[in-house]
Amino acid sequence: MRGFSFKHETFVILIACLIWLSTSSATCNAATTAKYRRHHHVHIHKSKPNNGLKFNVLDYGAKGDGKSDDTKAFQAAWANACKADASMIIVPSGYKFLVGPTSFSGSNCHKNIVFQLDGTILAPTSSKAWGGADHWLEFTNLEEFTINGKGTLDGRGSVWWTDSTHDFKQVSVSTDEKKQNSRPMAVMFVGGSKITVTGITIQNSPKFHLTFDTCDGVLVHHISISSPGDSPNTDGIHLRSSKNVIIHHTKLACGDDCISIQTGCTNVLVHDVNCGPGHGISIGSLGIDGLTACVSNITVKNVKIHDTMTGVRIKTWQGAKGLVRGVSFSNIQVSQVEVPIMIDQYYCDHSTCMNKTSAVSIADIAYENIKGTYTVQPIHLSCSDSKPCMNLKLSNIELKPKPDGHQMSETFCWQAFGQLNAPIIPEIDCLQEGQSSNKWGHHDAKCAA
Ligand SMILES: *[C@@H]1O[C@H](CO)[C@@H](O)[C@H](O)[C@H]1NC(C)=O
Ligand SMILES: *[C@@H]1O[C@H](CO)[C@@H](O)[C@H](O)[C@H]1NC(C)=O
Repeated sequence: MRGFSFKHETFVILIACLIWLSTSSATCNAATTAKYRRHHHVHIHKSKPNNGLKFNVLDYGAKGDGKSDDTKAFQAAWANACKADASMIIVPSGYKFLVGPTSFSGSNCHKNIVFQLDGTILAPTSSKAWGGADHWLEFTNLEEFTINGKGTLDGRGSVWWTDSTHDFKQVSVSTDEKKQNSRPMAVMFVGGSKITVTGITIQNSPKFHLTFDTCDGVLVHHISISSPGDSPNTDGIHLRSSKNVIIHHTKLACGDDCISIQTGCTNVLVHDVNCGPGHGISIGSLGIDGLTACVSNITVKNVKIHDTMTGVRIKTWQGAKGLVRGVSFSNIQVSQVEVPIMIDQYYCDHSTCMNKTSAVSIADIAYENIKGTYTVQPIHLSCSDSKPCMNLKLSNIELKPKPDGHQMSETFCWQAFGQLNAPIIPEIDCLQEGQSSNKWGHHDAKCAA
């Protein structure tokens, strides 16, 4: 079909439908070319309005009763949508579709496909249906792809969060780490470009809710992500090796980082988001197992963070290499956050980690206009002996203890270099001026390319 022009293709389908209509009273959904109006017109990708063919999962045998397995219907609808330019998959409102782990592969698909989600898609809760998959809904190698609508993706992850209630055969319960790694992520984009996700709700993922790995051009706005504050590793949005990412007007409530930015990310803008409960907005954790990590040009502004473990955080493992450079956190309003500002170059998520000399360097980090209340410590800057944090700039900070709080600590700095621009509340006397005598200009070569 790829050789056909779009007009030709539509014409052929129209003729086929007319023939079919003459033998049936049903309508031909595939040829309905009704105009599609975008719910949100904000669109950086400048893709053409979608006016292509529509593929309703109900027409492919989906029941939408919340019990029947509709996986095959979704796969069939996808196979057809993929072959048409600017097509639309329709998941209608008023239905609950049970769909197992599925890969929507875009390797041979046309551009500009819209996944119009107005109904609910439920993940399976039986271990058999998962079969060891590390994701639930995976979208790979798509170009100019949009998920849009008022619908919900429900990972029904509670069966994964507690061990006793569930018997997952593929899970070796020998270590916490294995348990954590075996939990599937809900929605995952790999190798995509110009991806938009808007309008929808993603909830109760077994692990991360929405992941972008190796994507270029990501726009997420007006979505909602939610899971309980104590659900393990349920990061809201997880970015890895992705660039040119914008996330705005989004509500994130989960059990781990609201947004986590991993190695390989650059040109990321987060603004007007609401985070909490959760662990705050984090860069990292970077450099596990001595890996090289590179992160640059990250802007986080106009953000409300409440009832979280940390506010804005950079966390790196000891023994790694690389560089985090060019990060700006501004206009952050915190409320009852344990530690609003944190750099931790000694990150360790289990009880003991070996001390190591090498580290991911951290430089050119700006904190501006960060205000509100904390419950444990206002600022914690714990930098590496061998790679001190350089050029930290704190301006207009006003962090106050929550009135009925107890056991508050003072600001802590270790090997942290930078400058302060008043007003700074509470007073900081531990930040070192100037440059560290430790030269670290050459180690970041791997990140420059
Ligand atoms: C940094 O990222 C922003 C998006 O947040 C982008 O507009 C800007 O061009 C990037 N800067 C550089 C030098 O690439
Ligand atoms: C690492 O270094 C710190 C500070 O010198 C020390 O307190 C701690 O015991 C060391 N940890 C290990 C595992 O050697």
